[in-house]
Amino acid sequence: MANVLILGALSDVAKALAHEYAFNKHTIMLAARQYQRLEPMVSDLKIRYNIQAYALEFDAEKFETHEQFYNQLPLSPDVVICVFGYLGNTDKGLEDWTEAKKIMDVNYVGAVSILNVAASFMLKHNTQGTIIGISSVAGERGRQSNFLYGSAKAGFTAYLSGLRNKLFYHGIHVLTVKPGFIKTAMTEGMPLNPKLTATPQHVAKAIYRAAAKKQNVLYVLWMWRYIMCIIRSIPEGMFKKLKL
Ligand SMILES: NC(=O)c1ccc[n+]([C@@H]2O[C@H](COP(=O)([O-])OP(=O)(O)OC[C@H]3O[C@@H](n4cnc5c(N)ncnc54)[C@H](OP(=O)(O)O)[C@@H]3O)[C@@H](O)[C@H]2O)c1
Repeated sequence: MANVLILGALSDVAKALAHEYAFNKHTIMLAARQYQRLEPMVSDLKIRYNIQAYALEFDAEKFETHEQFYNQLPLSPDVVICVFGYLGNTDKGLEDWTEAKKIMDVNYVGAVSILNVAASFMLKHNTQGTIIGISSVAGERGRQSNFLYGSAKAGFTAYLSGLRNKLFYHGIHVLTVKPGFIKTAMTEGMPLNPKLTATPQHVAKAIYRAAAKKQNVLYVLWMWRYIMCIIRSIPEGMFKKLKL
């Protein structure tokens, strides 16, 4: 059974992932900023699935703590899942550097910082593990509504692609997840088309299956692959006039 580290463990998707991996009898390490809030989840997972589970403090923006965090984990992870993310406010970010920087720091810099540590650790210890990053279709083309978030996720997608290439010959697998819309706290109040929106449970099951099959890129709902193909093919002269 594998030791699974879930970063950003209070997110709706992370909670569903914790249940999915625990159901399959893996050991779970949950990491979040407000780690005390993880305790009820840890107790529930232990009782419900008869597995080992841990609650740990982790802040994606405190880059300088990442190496120590990883070195002090109770178990050496076989699977690392980077779930945390921050949608932020694009209009605010245009005027307020603090907001723009936070969007980049959480979605790109923080993710790269902790996954670099995870990848180096796996290489050093010959762990034939799996690294999973939750990126976004928003990274496939910049749009006026979320281009700060989208550009950070674009960077993260490129990072994961390069990391997969780098780690392939060492037996370490990297999975990039592009979920499309998910019904979570992040999208609360948004008018989402139900046919294009996945539940966190659906996302978790799809990730578990894709990781087991060593799939490289996962579009959770199949239609997103085709939607993004169309979006990418629109000529820039036309695209800039659209209100997307
Ligand atoms: N929802 C969607 O439609 C959608 C679509 C595509 C991709 N995604 C991606 O899917 C992932 C999960 O998102 P979600 O929808 O489950 O959103 P969510 O429920 O809002 O979760 C986001 C999580 O990120 C954590 N986080 C933010 N800043 C952090 C930091 N500095 N350090 C550690 N954790 C931090 C938050 O922690 P706190 O609990 O401490 O605030 C929160 O638990 C994200 O990467 C998101 O970008 C979501």
